[in-house]
Amino acid sequence: MELVIADDAAAAGRLAGGIMADHIRGGAHAIGLATGSSPLGAYRELIRQHRERDLSFQRVQAFLLDEYIGLPPGHPQSYARFIRDEFTAHVDIADDAVHSPDGNAADIPSAAASYERMIATRGPIAVQILGIGGNGHLGFNEPGSSLRSRTRVKTLTPKTRADNARFFDGDLARVPTHVLTQGLGTIGDAGHLLMIATGAAKAEAVAAAVEGPVSAFCPASILQMHPHVTVIVDPPAAAYL
Ligand code: GLP
Repeated sequence: MELVIADDAAAAGRLAGGIMADHIRGGAHAIGLATGSSPLGAYRELIRQHRERDLSFQRVQAFLLDEYIGLPPGHPQSYARFIRDEFTAHVDIADDAVHSPDGNAADIPSAAASYERMIATRGPIAVQILGIGGNGHLGFNEPGSSLRSRTRVKTLTPKTRADNARFFDGDLARVPTHVLTQGLGTIGDAGHLLMIATGAAKAEAVAAAVEGPVSAFCPASILQMHPHVTVIVDPPAAAYL
């Protein structure tokens, strides 16, 4: 595992975006995207390289990690919409090349299975960008998730719902209770895992993921079992390393 302590959050984002850009220039045909605030700096860097350095996404398929169940299509906090607003609408990737689990499907288990099939068919994912939850979750694989899990329904923990209430005007009642998420096994199939964590609120989870025991209690500890991992943190997030 490669661990980089960047000067600050902005530098962490630039570095992560640059690593993704290198994969795309090197011919990656599938990339894995994440939501949350952690990857935003990386997306800004990719958008900059698209505008200023001719980085093209025309031949790239993109796969999101997860989606809330039951938010109406186009809801501003649906992850499909979030990734479009924050990233994909600003580069030359085709709309139908950006994939996410269907949180509005009538048959959710079969939506999970078909997402797995799509990744298997159009993958493998060359590089997967990741944030980390304050409780060590990856995607929406909450503590207790099986280390080999595949895309499936998960129930959010009270901590994750409280952490994410800020995106729903602070109103906990509006945060969905269930999600569809790639499993830890699905995430581990990507060729390169690139995790970004910034801020003191992530310090404990980062230390558990990077230096703690590999355990379902800290889903991000699967990073230790993967052959190609880069973790980029800022100094506050590195405080307990
Ligand atoms: C959500 C997402 C995760 C993300 C996490 C941390 O729960 N499902 O993929 O890593 O939040 O979010 P943030 O980066 O905003 O701290």
